[in-house]
Order: sequence, then C-alpha cells, then structure tokens
Amino acid sequence: IKKQAPIPVAMYGGRNAVTMLPGGGIGPELMEYVREVFKYAGAPVDFEVIDIDPMEESSGAFEYAITSIKRNGVAIKGNIETKSETAGSTSRNVALRNELDLFINILHCKSFPNVPARQKDIDVVIIRQNTEGEYAMLEHESVDGVVESMKVVTETNSDRVARYAFEFAKNTGRKKITTIHKANIMKLSDGLFLETSKKIAKLYPEVEHNDMIIDNCCMQLVSKPHQFDVMIMTNLYGSIVSNVVCGLIGGAGILSGRNYGDHYAVFEPGTRNTGTAIAGKNVANPLAMLNASVDMLNHLGHKRHADLIQRAIYKTVSEDQILTPDLGGSAKSTDVVQRVIDHILQADMRPW
Ligand code: NAI
Repeated sequence: IKKQAPIPVAMYGGRNAVTMLPGGGIGPELMEYVREVFKYAGAPVDFEVIDIDPMEESSGAFEYAITSIKRNGVAIKGNIETKSETAGSTSRNVALRNELDLFINILHCKSFPNVPARQKDIDVVIIRQNTEGEYAMLEHESVDGVVESMKVVTETNSDRVARYAFEFAKNTGRKKITTIHKANIMKLSDGLFLETSKKIAKLYPEVEHNDMIIDNCCMQLVSKPHQFDVMIMTNLYGSIVSNVVCGLIGGAGILSGRNYGDHYAVFEPGTRNTGTAIAGKNVANPLAMLNASVDMLNHLGHKRHADLIQRAIYKTVSEDQILTPDLGGSAKSTDVVQRVIDHILQADMRPW
C-alpha cells in the first residue's frame, strides 16, 4: 500500500509562507481575526494575501493564487462567491480544487462541550471526494428544454479516497468506515465508488466496513448520529452530509475543513459558506476560520502554537461561553476574538 508522502511547505528564515484567500462575504473579516490571533500567539507564519473577485475573471488573480499556493504548498481560504443565477460563470472554488488536485476533503465533526446543539457528543469524520462527481461542471442543453449534467466517477479517484480513509482510520485509531452512496439507482457511478471501497476495505481487516444509501444516511444522521465513525462519499453527498452534521453540532460557524492532494493543502471553514448577509455586522462566528488556522498550524508542524490557540478557543467557547448569535449567544465576533487573545496572553504555555 502506497503511503501518502508528506506535503512540502515553504519556509523562509524559520517562518512559513502561506497563501491567504479571504474570498467574499465574511471571509475578509474572519481573516483579519486570524491575523490578529496569530500576532498574539507568535505564530511564525507570513501571509501572501490574494483577493479573487469572481466577476473579474480576466484580472489574473485566480492564476496568481494558484501559482502562490504551488510555491507555498499551503493556503487558508474563505469562500469565493459563485452566483447561481449567473450563467456561464464557473465556481472559482471548484476550479481551485481541481487545478491543485485536492482530491480529499476532511471534516472532523466533533461537538464542542457546553455549546447548545441539536445533538451532543458527536465525533464523526467525513472524508469526501473533492474533485469530481457532480462537480464536474459538465452541463449542456442537448435540445431546447432538455438539460444534461454529467456526474463523473473514476476508479483512480475512488481508490485514492478509499485508501486515504482506511490509512486515516488505521493511523488515528478509528474503528469503522461507512461508504455512503446511491448505488441502487446510480449503478455505474456510485456502484464503482462502492465496489472500489469494498476492495480497499479487504486490505484493512482491522477496520470494520459497511455501506449505507445516502437517503437513509441523512435520516440516521439526524436520529442516531452516534453510530457513525468515519464516512466516505462522493462530492455532492459530501457537501450535503457535511452541512447536516454541522447543523447538528451548531451550524456553519464552528467547524473547519481540510483539503488535501499529494502536493498541496488548503484549509477553510467546513461548510464553505460566504455568509454575505451577515458580512460587516460584527456577528459572524469567527470559530470556523480560527479552527481552520489551527489545522493549518498543525499541518505546518507548529503544534505548540496550534495547541495554544485551540486551548484558548476551547476556554472561550466551552468554559466562558462567549458565543455569537448563531450559537444562541449575544457576543460580537470581536468579543470572541478578544477573549481568545486574552487566554493566549494569560497562558503559561506560550512558546517563547
Ligand atoms: P450562506 O453563506 O448564506 O450561509 C448559510 C447560513 O449560515 C446563513 O444563515 C449564514 O448567515 C450562516 N453562516 C455562515 N457562516 C457563518 C458564520 N461564520 N457565523 C454565523 N453564521 C454563519 O450560505 P449558502 O446560501 O449555502 O451559500 C452562499 C454561497 O456559498 C454561495 O456562493 C454558494 O455557492 C457557496 N457555497 C456554499 C456551500 C454550502 O455548503 N452551503 C458550499 C460551497 C459553496
């Protein structure tokens, strides 16, 4: 079994260079919080900030972002808005993942103690194919009033996702992997994904494997979510299931998501929302992006800085209960960030 080689990262004078793509909506303000927290935590990271305006495809910013991520190896990003009503404009987020071959998306859905949520003590890992499936963006109108949309599933990518998931389970002590699919209807595409995962499962007898149809999965998730450990699925199911689990835990403002390929890693809020309606109002929950920044520090090997920030977040949220309105609180975004910084400054585990 081929092991995933470490993803190279850029480092200059002991500091990492990381590409920062604020995106639209609440992205820029959340990135500002990340920079502020990194300053007080002394995180040795320099950001190369690139603004991508989805309406300015000819500006060259997207191509510059790709070059920058290829040079730095790592990025943190907000969501670049894709308007569904604008025909012809393709998602820059999807294009970026495809261009960098970020074939895996991981969402560790773990409940925060003392945060009001529909379900408690959830600890599920969603591993999603991130570059094909329904996101192939291959749609056309064959004759007037008839639109066809292609869902692309390849054996190569199904194999990569399954191997990644079983290696992940083995290395993290996870016990069970569930393949989510609709192979009863999409016999060829989802059938290939399911069969490939069954084949790889045979190589890992220590990890239990089962499968579940996506419809039943959604029902089981809202009624009995604790039965799940690690889940693997194709791209669109991954997006929907991620949103369902985030909803159970407390919404779009909490969890982070990680995107990996063989060469690059990109960190972002788990549900990839833009939050345009709440932008500039000082109410957006900063946690999802701060958690993404912790993931990024761990990836870069700055474990002490990552632990410092993670501990400060935990104290702010689970102990002090400084919560933004999406979690039932009345704190401003900046109240949360300020408390996180206060905990960092009080911590006796600062790395200097
Ligand atoms: P949205 O941006 O309207 O967010 C959905 C809900 O979550 C809203 O009520 C918003 O206020 C809330 N929310 C999001 N982030 C928050 C935060 N940090 N703190 C507090 N509340 C927060 O999401 P919608 O309508 O799904 O998508 C808008 C844009 O995002 C579109 O361009 C879409 O393409 C893109 N997008 C959404 C994804 C999703 O999984 N929902 C995935 C990929 C892209």
